[in-house]
Amino acid sequence: MVRLLTFLSTPGVMTATGCAMLPGVDHMPSDPEPGYTTRAAAMSLGVDPEAARSRVARWVRRTPVVDSGHGAFGLRDSVAMKLECLQYAGSFKARGGFNSALGADIPAAGLIAASGGNHGLAVAYVANALGVPAEIFVPQASSPVKVRRIRDLGAEVHVVGALYDDARIACNERAAESGALDIHPYDAPLTVSGQATAGLELMEQVSDLDTVIVAIGGGGLVAGLAAALPDIVRIVGVEPEGSACYRAATEAARPIDVEIHSVAADSLGARRLGSISWDIVSNRVESVLVTDAAIVDTRIRIWEDARLVVEPGGATAMAALTSGAYEPARGERVAVVVCGSNTDPADLVART
Ligand SMILES: Cc1ncc(COP(=O)(O)O)c(C=O)c1O
Repeated sequence: MVRLLTFLSTPGVMTATGCAMLPGVDHMPSDPEPGYTTRAAAMSLGVDPEAARSRVARWVRRTPVVDSGHGAFGLRDSVAMKLECLQYAGSFKARGGFNSALGADIPAAGLIAASGGNHGLAVAYVANALGVPAEIFVPQASSPVKVRRIRDLGAEVHVVGALYDDARIACNERAAESGALDIHPYDAPLTVSGQATAGLELMEQVSDLDTVIVAIGGGGLVAGLAAALPDIVRIVGVEPEGSACYRAATEAARPIDVEIHSVAADSLGARRLGSISWDIVSNRVESVLVTDAAIVDTRIRIWEDARLVVEPGGATAMAALTSGAYEPARGERVAVVVCGSNTDPADLVART
């Protein structure tokens, strides 16, 4: 553990008692488990990683963690790669999808979701597994690979508007009409709790973990990890320069709308950070930006050095290391969440 409590010594974060207070949470549960003050704060918002783990255990994969290996990605030290790209339906989103569906009563109209693609794919997978209908709203920015796979899983797909927000509005209207269970991709306690299960696994799979590097879209995954991991583990949240709602929120001291122009927009293109995520991760998670060029290069490098095919959003966290945007200290034990693989491999082949 090379960075003992570096985060908790950040000015303005420590309280007199040494507890990290989180904006938007005006009380801490009276007796948080030592070393887990973020989890205690998240639980006061309805986020419960352990309950989610019991709920989804038989429905999701415990994804493997592999070491990147000597010399891979041009890094001095090998990093641990948590392969959520091998999760059912190709991303960690199945975790939040199952937790949300199993944690509620599913009406006869089934499940409904708005999504850049991966969440919709996960909800379609969940509906298929549970034998209920699903309607999924995606924007035109969604990759054709994702749309086709959602259809293949038997869900009804509506392609609406340019970006996620347009699909969201149409989804809200339809959910009000049909009564289907609307599963939010990132701003709901059950979704965040489901994503947290990846963090619980990671703690068991990597010993002496110092730092976790993770991509941020609307913030459900990073919030889940912050709730799952002990406070001592540093969390680095990575966004494309052209799709940076967490960075904007940290600068404005609240979630605000941002413009989206990024190669990873179909997975990381949320216009505004979720409010639950903000309440959990602000002051806990460091913000790092990467260029689209770094994401594209890293995606190819993940194929060359790890023989994994990932989508741009799935390469974004690793791009923080390959581009030098985040430089670990000597001996720092780092894990990178490789979070999605719903992509067309043809463009990888064309570039190599
Ligand atoms: C592959 C991938 N990575 C990361 C994210 C970001 O997740 P979140 O919106 O929970 O921040 C998404 C969201 O769709 C995704 O599909």
